[in-house]
Amino acid sequence: MKTVATLSLLALALSAAGGVARAQNKVETPLYTVTDGYKVDANTMKGFRTWRQAACDRCHGANQEGMVGPSLVVSLKTLTKEEFVKTVRDGRLDKGMQSFGTSQAVMDNIDHLYAYLKGRSDGAITRAKVEEAK
Ligand code: HEC
Repeated sequence: MKTVATLSLLALALSAAGGVARAQNKVETPLYTVTDGYKVDANTMKGFRTWRQAACDRCHGANQEGMVGPSLVVSLKTLTKEEFVKTVRDGRLDKGMQSFGTSQAVMDNIDHLYAYLKGRSDGAITRAKVEEAK
C-alpha cells in the first residue's frame, strides 16, 4: 500500500513538473500589450506610426474597417503572419493592393505593423489611434 501511495505521489509530482515545463515553453514575448484598449507598448506604437506613415488607411479605412481594400479587422482573423508579410511586401498589383517591399519604413517595422493590426483584429486594441503606455 505504502509503495503504491509513494508511486502515485511521484507520478503526480512528475506530471505537475511536466505541466510547468510545458507552460514555460509557451511563455513567449506577447505580440502586443495594451491597457485600457489604447495604451500600447513601444513596438506596437511603432506599428501604428508605420500604418499612418504608409497611409494604409487610404484604402483600408481609418479604423481598418475597409474601403477600397478589405477590412483588416476581419482579414487578420484568418490571414497568417506569412500571408500578411507577403501581401504587404509584394502587393497584389492586379487587385489594387500596392507593394511596400521598397519602403524601408514599412519593411523595417513589418512585425510591429502586424502586431498593431492583430491587436485591432483581436478586439484588444479598441480604437485605431493608440498612445504609448507610460
Ligand atoms: C492603393 C490602395 C491600398 C493601399 C494604400 C494599401 N492597400 Fe492593402 N489592399 C488593397 C486592396 C484593394 C486589397 C485587396 C486585394 C485582393 O483583392 O486580394 C488589399 C489587401 C490587403 C491585405 C490582404 C487582405 C486579405 O484579406 O487577403 C492586407 C493584409 C493589406 N492589404 C494590408 C495593407 C497594409 C498594411 C497597407 C499599408 C502598409 C496597405 N494594405 C495599403 C488596397 C490597398
